[in-house]
Amino acid sequence: MKKFFVIGNPINHSLSPKLHNYWFKKNNIDGTYEKKKLNKNDLESFISKIRKGEIEGANITVPFKNTVVPFLDQLTPSAKDSRSVNTIFKENNKVIGHNTDIGGFELALKHINYDVKNKKIFILGAGGVVSSIILALKNMGVEKIILSNRTKEKAKYLKDLYPNIEIIDWGEVADFDMIINATSLGLKKNDEIKLNYPSFGSNKFFYDVIYNPNQTKFLLNAKKYGNRIENGKMMFIFQAHQAFNVWHKILPDIDGETIKLLDQ
Ligand code: ATR
Repeated sequence: MKKFFVIGNPINHSLSPKLHNYWFKKNNIDGTYEKKKLNKNDLESFISKIRKGEIEGANITVPFKNTVVPFLDQLTPSAKDSRSVNTIFKENNKVIGHNTDIGGFELALKHINYDVKNKKIFILGAGGVVSSIILALKNMGVEKIILSNRTKEKAKYLKDLYPNIEIIDWGEVADFDMIINATSLGLKKNDEIKLNYPSFGSNKFFYDVIYNPNQTKFLLNAKKYGNRIENGKMMFIFQAHQAFNVWHKILPDIDGETIKLLDQ
């Protein structure tokens, strides 16, 4: 039986096991997919188990998407460009780091026919997933990216990687067509991103990477003033879909049942 894991810290919230085990069953794959909480000094021995074939593959989540890199033999071009790995698989005797968050975000926007060409995108946050979002937006021909993060050094690190992005102070607001919440604010019930929601008018697109809760206060406020909203559920499903394809060379069906699985 092939063994797969998603590793992170914390990891309790992860819905990856639910989704992958569902697709295992649907596609008659003899495997298990579990979540595992690790510490940074466990990473090397975890990766060596993949190298030895004791573990078939893994997803990597916060906060190890970048710290896992030194233990891998090779990165795909998109993992290299983003300095971020969310999927690991051994091929031709090499443990390879892939990034399927970039494709996941691109496919999520294509799925709802949102075209970022000639658009100004305002990103809130500079955590693990943001470099993938920036690369996806660049691949899709975005006009301008403005980014703001509470801790400015992290925003500056991204500016070093992608010099064309503009950084503004946390609390300041840019002119935008689409605003993305890529912070973890909204995961907890009383979290709120303080913005002057009525001042944006009613024709903007508000995107939240969070999908549990289904609608954060950020999205509820945006909706109240007539804006278009979308949560991160399809991005999550598409990154998992691409990871599944890396491991099993199968793109499983994304049907209504798959999507419903993630509604908690
Ligand atoms: P990591 O930073 O370890 O990659 P993450 O969940 O990917 O973790 O990212 C968390 C993001 O939410 C960061 O941008 C974080 O801002 P800081 O870099 O300043 O920590 C942001 N965030 C979390 N709590 C926040 C809060 N109370 N106010 C503003 N931003 C917050």
